[in-house]
Amino acid sequence: MDELNVLSTRISEAAETIMSLHPERPSIAIVLGSGLGPMADRCEVLASIPFAEIPHFPVPTTPGHAGKLLIARVGNVPVYFMQGRYHFYEGYTTQEITFPYRVLAHLGMKQLILTNAAGGLNPDWNPGDLMVLSDHLSLFCDSPLRGANLDAFGPRFPDQTHVYDSDLRELLLETARELSVPVHAGVYAYMRGPQYETPAEIRMLRSLGADAVGMSTVPEAIVASHSGVKILALSCITNLAAGISKTPLSHKEVMEIGAQASDSSIRLLQSFLSKI
Ligand code: HPA
Repeated sequence: MDELNVLSTRISEAAETIMSLHPERPSIAIVLGSGLGPMADRCEVLASIPFAEIPHFPVPTTPGHAGKLLIARVGNVPVYFMQGRYHFYEGYTTQEITFPYRVLAHLGMKQLILTNAAGGLNPDWNPGDLMVLSDHLSLFCDSPLRGANLDAFGPRFPDQTHVYDSDLRELLLETARELSVPVHAGVYAYMRGPQYETPAEIRMLRSLGADAVGMSTVPEAIVASHSGVKILALSCITNLAAGISKTPLSHKEVMEIGAQASDSSIRLLQSFLSKI
């Protein structure tokens, strides 16, 4: 079988397994980034499928944090939750990281909400702030679309003018105002990690127009937008970026601030979902 047939077959096999475990096919998927895992605990879970049980989903690298695909209801809205995600720094290729989003697009996903933890570059922002993505810098991201193109999903040379849907962004900002949750809009720069950036890299990214930096989201957004999926992405600014922060960066701080801000992010997303 050639490369395209192999990929198409794998997508169908993964999709069939998911459908055989639960017949509902939500049109919205939400990726729960650092700190947001508990959102799924507040919802009615209809099916919980470990990534390891879905054929061709990459094997999770962190023991005890296997990652799950949930089919759930937030209020009345059926959603897929990706509870956990894959990162390039774990050793996967960008094609592997993004395979689940091909499968969800095949199953009928029309809207994707990506969440993440990010370092803040904008001097006016503070740890704990939220940012909705208006755009991204993918310079350091190996394209997940490299290789034979899946024409049934999208074009060889996809336009990237509107990766993040402006209607979804406006609706989120409106919801945030109603709930008095401050949310900035800005540009997210992707870095591969796992090392945090150097101060020189942060100055470079700032001069290129970035407001935040992180190690996820962009590969997923490229693949989903290729399939015409409308995307909303929300960052929790967990720390000031290297050289801006007065203290050394630590994963512990990222996790702590992410957990502290998760309550307002979850309320915001729940209220947002009730409107779409
Ligand atoms: N850099 C990259 N990724 C991150 C950061 C950061 O400062 N904070 C949280 N994720």
